Amino acid sequence: MQSRVQGIRQRFDSDVARAKDAAALEEVRTRYLGRRAGILTALLRDLRDAPKAERAAFGKAVNDLKAHVEAALEAARGKVSRARTAAGPIDLTLPGRAQRPGTFHPITQVRALIEEIFLEMGYTLETGPEIETDFYNFEALNIPPQHPARDLQDTFYVEGGLLLRTHTSPVQIRTMQQRRPPIKMVALGKVFRRDSDVTHSPVFHQVEGLVVSEGITFAHLKGTLQHFCRRVFGKELRLRLRPSYFPFVEPGAEYDISCIFCGGSGCSRCKGSGFIEMGGAGMVHPAVFEKVGYDPERYTGFAFGLGIERIAMLKHGIDDIRLLYENDLRFLQQFPG
Ligand code: PHE
Repeated sequence: MQSRVQGIRQRFDSDVARAKDAAALEEVRTRYLGRRAGILTALLRDLRDAPKAERAAFGKAVNDLKAHVEAALEAARGKVSRARTAAGPIDLTLPGRAQRPGTFHPITQVRALIEEIFLEMGYTLETGPEIETDFYNFEALNIPPQHPARDLQDTFYVEGGLLLRTHTSPVQIRTMQQRRPPIKMVALGKVFRRDSDVTHSPVFHQVEGLVVSEGITFAHLKGTLQHFCRRVFGKELRLRLRPSYFPFVEPGAEYDISCIFCGGSGCSRCKGSGFIEMGGAGMVHPAVFEKVGYDPERYTGFAFGLGIERIAMLKHGIDDIRLLYENDLRFLQQFPG
């Protein structure tokens, strides 16, 4: 019996020595003094079955052990809590965690650059709603009811006969309704189309430009686009206009720049053509002026549109538009600034 008590005592002493914090000490306490499965609790129970002759000595040994256990636990708890107060639960000598400053999304960066370029040229920044009426998105822009751009394939319709704007051109109409010429505005914002692949996203961003005054010509349009394209890519490049059709401009054009990757000699990026498509443009159609009550005999103007994602992709050599929307930090951290 005595040797059994002795063995438990030795085991307990080494267990207490190993317990380094309050939680570990509590575990030791339960192991030895726990009401149901404690080692000492079991020992005291065994006392009842011990032969009468041994009972007194055994009882004393167990009680001594119990007193030893309680005192040792108390002492160990005191030591642990003193150690914690001395060093503190937090090691103040550790170096601090570095604060990583965030960066602007590449779309936001390109958007800010485009705004800066037009603000430098004296343009105003305008905005319009993303949920539009048929009138602003189509009708006022001389897009007749049967025009393929209205096809359900392209346009997201929402309740109440409203739709998600398919381009930023409705902001032209809203601005002209609110003001008289001269007008020199750009509008940057989200547009929506039922379209999705590596170069098309159902939500993307456009820039709309509109200049209306007396004596505005196609030459002003070409000079403006050329200056803008050179500024946005930060290099000399040629601008090419090709005849095209948009119901709200006449004449209408699409404009290209000489390839920023090969300089125009032809490469895989420009598919050997030496040019890269940028957007649509043209002279404001007289029918549009009539819709907003401007005299088409007195005023002329030009308008242009372009995609912001496209510029970001070209500037940074990004070949999948979806990378711009996934918010993968490994991608975003490549665009500090
Ligand atoms: N709104 C046209 C589009 O989204 C672009 C454009 C704007 C064309 C202005 C001509 C003039 O495709």
